[in-house]
Amino acid sequence: MPIKKNSKKSKAEKPKEDSLVLQTLRGMKDVLPIDQPYWEQVRRISERLARDYEFSRLDTPIVEFANLFSRSIGEGTDIVEKEMYTFLTRGADKVALRPELTAGNCRSYIQHGMNLLPKPVKFFSTGPVYRYDRPQEGRYREHYQVNFDAFGEQDPILDAQIIQLAHRLVQTFGIKTAQMQINSIGCQICRKDYKELLVNYLDSKKTKLCQDCRRRIETNPLRVLDCKEDKCSQVAALAPQSVDHLCEDCRNHFKTLLEYLDELDLPYIINPHLVRGLDYYTKTVFEILSSAEEGKGLSLGGGGRYDKLIKIMGGEDTPAIGFAIGVERIVAEMKRVQAKPYKAPRPKVFLAQLGNLAKKKSLKLFSELEKNGIFTAESFGRGSLKSQLKVANRLKVEFTLILGQKETLDGTVIVKNMATGAQETVSADKLIDLVKKKIKADNVVVYHNN
Ligand code: HAM
Repeated sequence: MPIKKNSKKSKAEKPKEDSLVLQTLRGMKDVLPIDQPYWEQVRRISERLARDYEFSRLDTPIVEFANLFSRSIGEGTDIVEKEMYTFLTRGADKVALRPELTAGNCRSYIQHGMNLLPKPVKFFSTGPVYRYDRPQEGRYREHYQVNFDAFGEQDPILDAQIIQLAHRLVQTFGIKTAQMQINSIGCQICRKDYKELLVNYLDSKKTKLCQDCRRRIETNPLRVLDCKEDKCSQVAALAPQSVDHLCEDCRNHFKTLLEYLDELDLPYIINPHLVRGLDYYTKTVFEILSSAEEGKGLSLGGGGRYDKLIKIMGGEDTPAIGFAIGVERIVAEMKRVQAKPYKAPRPKVFLAQLGNLAKKKSLKLFSELEKNGIFTAESFGRGSLKSQLKVANRLKVEFTLILGQKETLDGTVIVKNMATGAQETVSADKLIDLVKKKIKADNVVVYHNN
């Protein structure tokens, strides 16, 4: 009897073939060696500025209880509603891959009683985060963030310093044209009245909004203000603005922050539609937009105050502020503006060997050189001296050490100056000291400085 083909049911029930797919998952990517100099530059500059601004490194797990994120980022946000990688463990815990770093930092701060440390307590974190978003240019399902969070200081001078740090970071990457946008979305008290006003306004324009924003009037009305749909932007343009409805405390906070930024000569624009995609923010919010992405809505980094989050999570009432940059977007922007990637120090010395005995000895000599901090290149797989010297020339080393059959038997090594061509034969036990004297320690990292 013929088998009935293509019935919908049988198709749906057909198990997926377990073939090996040699591809990263959609929205994820490998960071290949060719791109690593950009990533290394971002890492090094971030680490250096974290040290200079006295942020201590904190690493938290990639997986946490799912409700850590839903409670802090907010149930009505896109991140929690649509983008979390949530799953049940074998032990039936509902967990999620972290969609950002701040919630984990707050959890860690409370869990380890870091409220007892002198304030402000400052954390620097970096690593991958996961958002099941629709992948497109600059938007990935796995991306890396460099994140700074500071706990325990409510003075707007800290807002100014954090914004200065974000600005300095991006400038130091060599991105000079990014734009700093700032806004204040008020505190829980003044935002309540403002939200009411906004909802009334949005309700009156409901028919002109996209489907998502119609829903957002109920769930997250502030987000309507930064919707990228044209028709929503038009409605947002005439909407009441949070900065006009701040309570006295929030108004003073914002005013003082702007005074500090003016004093720093830090360029910024106030964007009354900047609300950010996470619910935990209060008062100051800011975002850094690349000149290329302006209008497209992609930001290089963003952050703000979240004075109530630690309390909401069950800790002591602790003001806090922070920001994160997206490494993929920073790297793309560095390439676009032709910023310098990290330049690794080059080997100063090349070790060449000739003959079986020398080859055996050279492995040990290479290890001795390395242990003594002498950065040495080699090409052990190559047999002829000529081809090894070719590599040495290409690498532009200052000296080539040549170990042949005769030198191995004599306990000597030939030291060849690659610039002058001069050669000297030195005793193997004096070699390390001699090479150390000849080369200068050179570990200069090239940074952009303005
Ligand atoms: P966020 O604005 O959601 O803030 O993300 C920070 C940065 O990560 C963005 O400005 C962007 O550069 C990058 N980014 C976000 N989503 C993606 C994506 N799908 N693909 C590539 N890059 C992306 C936060 O995550 C807050 N936790 C920042 C913060 C720290 N606020 C206070 N402290």
